[in-house]
Amino acid sequence: MRGIDALFEGNRAWAKRVEAEEPGFFEKLEGQQSPDYLWIGCSDSRVPATQIVDLMPGEIFVHRNVGNIAAHSDLNCLSVIHYAVGVLQVKDIVVCGHYGCGAVRAALENRELGLIDNWLRFIQDVMRTHAGQLARLTTERERWDRLAELNVIEQLMNVSRTTIVRQAWAQGHALALHAVIYSLSDGLLRDLKVGGASEEELAASYAEASALSP
Ligand code: CO
Repeated sequence: MRGIDALFEGNRAWAKRVEAEEPGFFEKLEGQQSPDYLWIGCSDSRVPATQIVDLMPGEIFVHRNVGNIAAHSDLNCLSVIHYAVGVLQVKDIVVCGHYGCGAVRAALENRELGLIDNWLRFIQDVMRTHAGQLARLTTERERWDRLAELNVIEQLMNVSRTTIVRQAWAQGHALALHAVIYSLSDGLLRDLKVGGASEEELAASYAEASALSP
């Protein structure tokens, strides 16, 4: 079976399975959502947020776009952060990138793909910030992998500089930020060790993260 029919069929089977495993699951969720996490990740079909951390619907608030970008001017991403922090009061924000990211590769190779090139400029900004470090790597694969990591870290720093996160911290809300990367080859997440629950913690971890200097 192909096309939209496959989706309906899959959905019916899934809903039946979930309800059988946990009777009343959907009824309970219908009342309200109270996720502890906001996830900002790549749209890549191989990196589905809720599935790879083995959680159920209702447990992660998700924003995904090409290249897991958190741009200061992106009203969509800012609105998601605002709603997650201000209304849902999530405790943790995770920015998750992945190795083998096509967006990162296109940015690295300065490919001309059309409209999306404008979006990929945000990743090229990260390239410029860390040009020296990337130039010291010997293979294209190493540069691709490292740029994917650096992009996660810089997007996390962008999240930390939003008025939303700054205000939450100023008001004493417990909100921690985390930079992680996913490996398509083994299905595992790796902590990039940049993050924290305050501006100071984040700045210290950014400085400590080895070889971050240009
Ligand atoms: Co990607």
